[in-house]
Amino acid sequence: MGRPFAVRLLWATVCTAPVAVAHAEMSLSATYTLNCSGCHGQDGHGVPEAGIPDLNDAGRYVSTALGRRYLVQVPGLSQSRLDDATAARILNWILMRFSANHLPADFTPYTAEEVARFRSDKASDAKTRRDAILYELGQLKAAHQGNDTGAARK
Ligand code: HEC
Repeated sequence: MGRPFAVRLLWATVCTAPVAVAHAEMSLSATYTLNCSGCHGQDGHGVPEAGIPDLNDAGRYVSTALGRRYLVQVPGLSQSRLDDATAARILNWILMRFSANHLPADFTPYTAEEVARFRSDKASDAKTRRDAILYELGQLKAAHQGNDTGAARK
């Protein structure tokens, strides 16, 4: 009789895991370069003055449910040709790589299922969501409160 199946499976996992991880890391970096870096830059800094946000700040969004969903629904990710599993992995990858210092201590990585669920919600407008989240985070200044510009008053 051989070893129980579970033991053999465990052994196989232990032996192949480091290679698999190294490969996954390499391909995610390539995936980012091919699909995202054209806009966000190789270092993730984007072009904020042209409306392409700095991914180094992206980690702060995941602390709210709305923010967590927003990161999946940005067009660059949700409308990409990446399948849900790869989209989840690239999102986790950019968060860890560029914005680890903004991630909450209890950050749970995105799963393919979560990406699939948020992706299928087409009733989203990234700009509106982004503003709502920034407001929620207390980071959006009330720019037009009515009493700040004398010129606007009659
Ligand atoms: C064509 C340019 C473009 C490409 C390509 C692109 N993005 Fe974006 N990305 C944007 C813009 C613009 C925004 C701001 C939200 C909006 O206006 O849609 C954004 C927002 C984001 C955000 C939210 C950051 C924030 O602070 O609001 C994340 C995360 C993100 N993109 C990830 C990705 C990933 C991952 C890829 C590759 C799979 C990617 N993007 C590809 C242009 C792009």
